[in-house]
Amino acid sequence: MKRLKIKVYCNGVKKSDLPQILNLLGQLSTSTFAKNRKIIQEISHWREVMKKSFLINVRDMKKEGNPIVGMATLIPHIQSLGRFGNIQDVIVDEQYRGCGVGAMLWKEIVKISKENNFSRVDLTSSKPKAQKWYKKLGFEEHKTKFFRKNL
Ligand SMILES: CC(C)(COP(=O)(O)OP(=O)(O)OC[C@H]1O[C@@H](n2cnc3c(N)ncnc32)[C@H](O)[C@@H]1OP(=O)(O)O)[C@@H](O)C(=O)NCCC(=O)NCCS
Repeated sequence: MKRLKIKVYCNGVKKSDLPQILNLLGQLSTSTFAKNRKIIQEISHWREVMKKSFLINVRDMKKEGNPIVGMATLIPHIQSLGRFGNIQDVIVDEQYRGCGVGAMLWKEIVKISKENNFSRVDLTSSKPKAQKWYKKLGFEEHKTKFFRKNL
């Protein structure tokens, strides 16, 4: 296992970070990535993301420019039934997996969620490996049908 010097941040993503972010998102879902490429390569998009949600990012402090090697988005949901967090786009660079970067993202998600009085966090996952990882973190599977309509 690598000896890493990594640090977790919330927001603070700048234009020079976009190539790494696009690289990470490309590892997550190639079809969604391709469809939205035009939008997600603009810094204005990420400024909007950071205004409305917590963009948690882990950086490699040993590498020049401190590249982002893992990220997750935590979106506040203030609803009639309470305050919840929705987790999206959890991704760790292939070369950094299994080294605790994901654990660091999760720790930050919990910290921010508690600071914001979220009573729970939700996510959806179609990847068996990731599902196993979420269960280890204490997530329980809910048998809810997920519906989507592309616009
Ligand atoms: C799921 C994911 C975010 C976990 O991140 P991570 O940095 O690998 O997580 P951690 O290192 O904290 O923990 C991973 C666990 O799997 C084990 N592991 C070993 N090799 C691994 C590997 N190549 N990849 C992933 N996990 C590995 C680790 O030992 C660790 O087990 P432990 O908790 O018993 O020590 C990451 O694997 C990933 O980005 N996967 C692809 C994208 C994805 O599926 N995202 C979720 C979308 S819903």
